[in-house]
Parts: sequence; C-alpha cells; structure tokens
Amino acid sequence: MQIHAAISDLRAALQDRGRIAFVPTMGNLHAGHIALMNEARRHGDTVVASIFVNRLQFGPNDDFDRYPRTFQADCEQLIAAGVDLLFAPTENDLYPERQQYHVEPPDIQHQLDGEFRPGHFRGVATVVLKLFNIVQPRTALFGKKDYQQLMVLRNMTRQLALPINIVGGETVRADDGLALSSRNAYLSATQRAEAPRLYRTLSGIRQAVRAGDRDFARLESAAAAELDRNGWQTDYVAIREQSDLQRPRAPENQALVVLAASRLGAARLIDNLEIDAVNEH
Ligand code: PAJ
Repeated sequence: MQIHAAISDLRAALQDRGRIAFVPTMGNLHAGHIALMNEARRHGDTVVASIFVNRLQFGPNDDFDRYPRTFQADCEQLIAAGVDLLFAPTENDLYPERQQYHVEPPDIQHQLDGEFRPGHFRGVATVVLKLFNIVQPRTALFGKKDYQQLMVLRNMTRQLALPINIVGGETVRADDGLALSSRNAYLSATQRAEAPRLYRTLSGIRQAVRAGDRDFARLESAAAAELDRNGWQTDYVAIREQSDLQRPRAPENQALVVLAASRLGAARLIDNLEIDAVNEH
C-alpha cells in the first residue's frame, strides 16, 4: 500500500489508476471501516482510503485532542484489506492556510446532531468536498452509522453536481448490538456492558412503529426517559423520514429512520435504525 501525505504526491500517484473508490476516515479503524473498504473494491479499480482527524468538524468542547490516533495499527488493517493507496495528510498538508471557504449545508445542519454540535456538518462537508477534489473518486463510501452525515454528503454531491456516486454501507455492530465506533474506547467496562441499551431502545421503537404505533412523540420521549433512568444523558431520540430527515409528513407507508444520540460517561454515542415501511412485519 502506498502512503502519501502531500496532495501533489497523491495526485501524481493517482494518474491512470482507472475508476477510484474512496473511503474517507479519521482513523482508529475497526470492522465498520473495513467493511467499507471491502465494499469499495466492488466499485473501483483502485481503492483509496484517507485518515485525517479533521479539526474543522470538532467544536471547542469536543474530543479533538483525545480522539484516538492509532496510525500503525490502522495501516496494518488497510494492508490486510487490500487498500491500494492511503492519503494521510498532516494538518499543514490539508490546511496550509486557514480555511476561509466553507460548504454551508442547509438547515438540517442545525438539527438532530447539528443542534448539539454547532458547525459540525459544515466542517464535515468542507473537508469531504476538499478530499473529493484531491482524490477525484468515481465512488465514495460512507457508513449509515452516521446517517445524517451520509444524507448531508449525498445531497451536497447531488446539488453541486459532483460526478461521484455516493454509496451507504450498513452499520457494523458488536454481537450485543452496539454499533462499532472509535468513541466506544471511552467506555469503562461497566459502561460498555450498559451501552447496547441504545440499540435495544431503537429496536423497540422500530418494532412498535412496525406494529402500527403512530404516536411518535410519545415513543421518542419514553425512549429518552428509559435511557436517562439508566444513567444516560440523552440529546435526542427522533423518528424521521429517511430521505431528508424531516419529521414524518404523511402518516402511511413511508421509509422512516429512528436516530438517537446519548451520552454515557465520557462517550457520546449515536446510532440509528431504518424502519422500511409501516406495517411491514
Ligand atoms: P469516521 O468516524 O472515521 O468514519 C469513517 C466512515 O466509517 C464514515 O463513513 C462512518 O459512517 C463509517 N463508520 C463508522 N462506524 C461504522 C460502523 N459501525 N459501521 C459502518 N460504518 C461505520 O465519519 C468520519 O470519520 C468523518 O466525519 C469523515 C467523513 C472522515 C470526515 O472527516
């Protein structure tokens, strides 16, 4: 696997490489990231990954400084997954001057996760557009684990007419249901045992909606209260439409998703489950 830090080196190495499939990451790789690398292989002749902890998408009280950085182990996993090139810029490579031009996503950037992480989706969209311009992929892959991020990037790509296919990968979970995340490393052993409650709570909502429960507001607040009774501090539990993450409009037969973010100790965990059509069993 070739590793490049400088934009010009990466560009030179990507000449005549056919269709490029690209998986951007912030490192500390786990099976969720690797599933995206494997899926990428089906979409391109050359698989490019990036590792860059993007300061722009972290707020002043976020975990930028303590975000786990495990570059050597990450490289081993990428080699084992058959990734062809890794772009691993330093901050100086990617932001040699202060980034003053930004991608400003629409109002959804202030809702759900955006309400609790001001500026987050603006920072994500800006770095991803910049990475797209550097790597020039035909296909780029993102996990459904970060559902709102996937939606923002999909819509950015469409509205700016970027010639890139956006592919969403299914969420990879531990055996007990907890979605894999670099932030799970912040959990103590006791908290790790408690953490799957988030997935169980979302599963309960999915089951209730499938069974015909339409009282979304009650389902949402009961779920948040249940988490908080067990030591969580819940930011939101929300049932939304899959396509634009707005509140459900027509009451019947729509593709919904239930999303949640809740803090357990030092970890802020997010998860979601798609609910495909009401009344499916
Ligand atoms: P990061 O959190 O490292 O995630 C990189 C990619 O892996 C994202 O598309 C994310 O949705 C996906 N991913 C994470 N956990 C997953 C899981 N359990 N199952 C499936 N996919 C999973 O998301 C980012 O980095 C950054 O915001 C980035 C897009 C790189 C921009 O800086």
